[in-house]
Amino acid sequence: MYNKIYLPSLYTITIHNIAFMESLNKKIALVTGANKGVGYATAQLLAEQNITVLLGSRDETRGKEAEAGLRSQGLDVHYINIDMEDRETFSIAATYIERVYGKLDILINNAGVQIESEIWQTNTTASISMETLRRTFEINFFGLVDLTQQLLPLIQKSEAGRIVNLTSILASLQYHATPGSNTYNTKTFAYNSTKTAVNAFTIHLAHALKDTNIKVNAAHPGWVKTEMGGKGAFLSIEEGAKTSVYLALIDEHGPNGSYMHEHSKLPW
Ligand SMILES: NC(=O)c1ccc[n+]([C@@H]2O[C@H](COP(=O)([O-])OP(=O)(O)OC[C@H]3O[C@@H](n4cnc5c(N)ncnc54)[C@H](OP(=O)(O)O)[C@@H]3O)[C@@H](O)[C@H]2O)c1
Repeated sequence: MYNKIYLPSLYTITIHNIAFMESLNKKIALVTGANKGVGYATAQLLAEQNITVLLGSRDETRGKEAEAGLRSQGLDVHYINIDMEDRETFSIAATYIERVYGKLDILINNAGVQIESEIWQTNTTASISMETLRRTFEINFFGLVDLTQQLLPLIQKSEAGRIVNLTSILASLQYHATPGSNTYNTKTFAYNSTKTAVNAFTIHLAHALKDTNIKVNAAHPGWVKTEMGGKGAFLSIEEGAKTSVYLALIDEHGPNGSYMHEHSKLPW
């Protein structure tokens, strides 16, 4: 059903029709990079709110393992192939979501990488290779923008669309420019600048959609014990998912075009 070649049969059409009818009542969410870490916990917490969650993963085996783990808890989750470096997966996913659910209520742009050194208190700016810089931008920024644009027509079909872009406190130019701030000496240039660009996209898209019922926000999850965050991090993945889940579920009075950690705004 999720393969690139879609072979309709009477059975799959019936299954799709049932999913489509259910989606009229249930919210549909897509979380990218949901096979582990913050994305996995975000998918779990959203599914626990009776939301149908599509688990984006670039790898089928890892995606289906995550799907099996969450389904064993009775959650309505479905693996979907999304590779931030393969734009074809975006259009296939958009076509699939349109056909099966007819809309998308929540998009969590969670997938991300930190390819350069993960050493806290380092500055890679003078030495970063163009290859690392370009690849980090490809995954963390260009892929995110492209996927969002391709899914926007489906989000516009939601009664109250929510887009959450995973950023980092390391995106904050104000903190980087302030000696003594927590992040002042952590200048992992490729990672940080992609997240600053994600923040810019968040503000610009929120402005483009300001007269609609869609809200767009940037979420800093905190320092989370994941493969990226490392064992020394402070937060569990469930705690790290809180900001994304909060911004996914805000009502019409919630923030828009904001850079948030939990319920607090961060300085740009
Ligand atoms: N952990 C922290 O302390 C922290 C702090 C601030 C911000 N963040 C942000 O929070 C988000 C989640 O991070 P995390 O800590 O949960 O990281 P993680 O454990 O390393 O998980 C990253 C997820 O992104 C996926 N991914 C990586 N490259 C991809 C690609 N090309 N296409 C599709 N998926 C891809 C990974 O899939 P694979 O398993 O296939 O690699 C994985 O599912 C990221 O955007 C990160 O920048 C994290």
